[in-house]
Amino acid sequence: MGVGRCLVLPWRCVVVLCLRLLFLVPAGVPVRSGDATFPKAMDNVTVRQGESAILRCTVDNRVTRVAWLNRSTILYAGNDKWSIDDRVVIVSNTKTEYSIKIFNVDIYDEGPYTCSVQTDNHPKTSRVHLIVQVPPQIINISRDITVNEGSSVTLLCLAFGRPEPTVTWRHLSSKDLSC
Ligand SMILES: *[C@@H]1O[C@H](CO)[C@@H](O)[C@H](O)[C@H]1NC(C)=O
Ligand SMILES: *[C@@H]1O[C@H](CO)[C@@H](O)[C@H](O)[C@H]1NC(C)=O
Ligand SMILES: *[C@@H]1O[C@H](CO)[C@@H](O)[C@H](O)[C@H]1NC(C)=O
Repeated sequence: MGVGRCLVLPWRCVVVLCLRLLFLVPAGVPVRSGDATFPKAMDNVTVRQGESAILRCTVDNRVTRVAWLNRSTILYAGNDKWSIDDRVVIVSNTKTEYSIKIFNVDIYDEGPYTCSVQTDNHPKTSRVHLIVQVPPQIINISRDITVNEGSSVTLLCLAFGRPEPTVTWRHLSSKDLSC
């Protein structure tokens, strides 16, 4: 939850304000991990709320058992679905790839997912983080306001988004006013 800062401004004259908000949202760029351990899950996955996410795990033919976990809960073990969530489906279980798909991702799906395999009787895991973004939106904002010279005014802007939005206030000069 991003809460915009309130700004208290003493005005020199009676003004009607027309304000515009600018948001800067850093793009969620997955970072390469130089990690070459096996199994190799993909890098962190960033999706927007409501989109689907595919979690891929690269395996090879020495692998005898495979599973995908959400934290410590098994979602799929081989082709067997353990999750009761119908948004979760298996998309690939071959000698080289073991992948699942999550439809309609929501913010509570964010977190670590683990690809777990068994090779020559040794369990091995690889972890990937699912990161869910929500486009910024204004939840509440002050209306246009008229005040007397010398008095104070409080302007409110309440915004929500993931990552947390940056709220900025800008004073438009009178020639910029179009409202
Ligand atoms: C994946 O995301 C987690 C949690 O945000 C972070 O700690 C980790 O460094 C990320 N790994 C990579 C390879 O980007
Ligand atoms: C992952 O686990 C979290 C916490 O238990 C849960 O809220 C979420 O629905 C799970 N997501 C999937 C895709 O299993
Ligand atoms: C917006 O904030 C104002 C001031 O805090 C409050 O009075 C009003 O009820 C809020 N409106 C909504 C829709 O939350």
